[in-house]
Amino acid sequence: MHIAIYGSGVVGSATGQAFLQRGHDVTFVDVSQERIWQLMGRGLYAVRPDQVNIHHVDLIFVSVPTPSTPQGQDTSYLRAAADDIADKLSGINDSHYPVVVFRCTQIPGMTRELTQQMEDISGKKAGVDFGVVYNPEYLRAENPTDDKNPLADSLNPRVVTIGHHPQDVRSVEVMEKLYEPFGVPMRWTSIVAGELQKYHHNVYNAVKISFCNQLRMHLEDNGFTEQQIQAVFAAPDLFEGIRIAFNREFEQLCRLHRVSDPEIALIYKISEVSCEGLRNPKYGTRNLGPYAGACLPKEVIAIMALASSRGLDMPVVANTHDINERMIARTQSQDKAA
Ligand SMILES: NC(=O)c1ccc[n+]([C@@H]2O[C@H](COP(=O)([O-])OP(=O)(O)OC[C@H]3O[C@@H](n4cnc5c(N)ncnc54)[C@H](O)[C@@H]3O)[C@@H](O)[C@H]2O)c1
Repeated sequence: MHIAIYGSGVVGSATGQAFLQRGHDVTFVDVSQERIWQLMGRGLYAVRPDQVNIHHVDLIFVSVPTPSTPQGQDTSYLRAAADDIADKLSGINDSHYPVVVFRCTQIPGMTRELTQQMEDISGKKAGVDFGVVYNPEYLRAENPTDDKNPLADSLNPRVVTIGHHPQDVRSVEVMEKLYEPFGVPMRWTSIVAGELQKYHHNVYNAVKISFCNQLRMHLEDNGFTEQQIQAVFAAPDLFEGIRIAFNREFEQLCRLHRVSDPEIALIYKISEVSCEGLRNPKYGTRNLGPYAGACLPKEVIAIMALASSRGLDMPVVANTHDINERMIARTQSQDKAA
């Protein structure tokens, strides 16, 4: 199949190279000329958005930045990419049915808004002239000091989640054809449940790290040795309480978006496979300091802002953020003292 990847940074380039290795024809698309040169230097076909010829494209992946702001999420990159894709959709003929695949971590409801935007600009109808699905990426943070590797993660996903419209049979067929060769479970959700699952996955990782950090700070202050601390972390069911408390408050977000109980159960089932904090008992228990990187801080802030704008009480997430801020300050003062 012919695949265009709008936004060819960490996620886009890993996603595109995984499809290239599966024998697809991939065009990397980016607004940054520097990024295009880097990709071309690696022998990849990379172009600016205005150079994309959509007439040959079966799938358009969107993996642009979604930074957080104090108000929630900066959606301007997503909107700019959707504008550009919509312009191109306006010129497609009746027999062509490109599928737009949103791959970003984007606030629940965003895909629906972007679909409306693309329909308004292009004059085409989703489900009739083009398809829309949501397919999150579960890369672990890029970290050259250990075995974490975005391309390896993209080539070997543990689970593939696809948020879709049940009536959009053509998109389902294309996504099945794309992912079947990966030989991993495919989980089909509604679009908004897919968006929520990606947040559940990321924010639980942050929740677990902060929970471990708070416990560790308390144990260290009371003279526990590292060996004793590890024995505490190995206690059975230590994380059950925090998982249940987080799920309870996360369910408020799901209900706000009219996600049914069976779909909430499906979100948790997917996270048990996708989310390292849930499947790896050691995740977060080593003394690695505050959570950082490209995803966890921004996703926690985005969820806190979303909760506060909708009047939701999410104390576990608020504490997660506060503890992390304390951890950052503590690490900085230890560094100064050293
Ligand atoms: N980095 C991770 O580990 C990771 C993991 C899973 C999900 N995500 C999510 O995936 C998305 C992308 O993250 P990333 O880390 O790859 O970002 P990135 O900053 O590495 O790459 C984004 C790329 O998009 C390009 N871009 C911006 N606007 C564009 C446009 N209108 N058209 C085409 N290209 C455009 C930028 O120039 C950049 O090269 C985010 O939503 C992020 O939260 C990231």
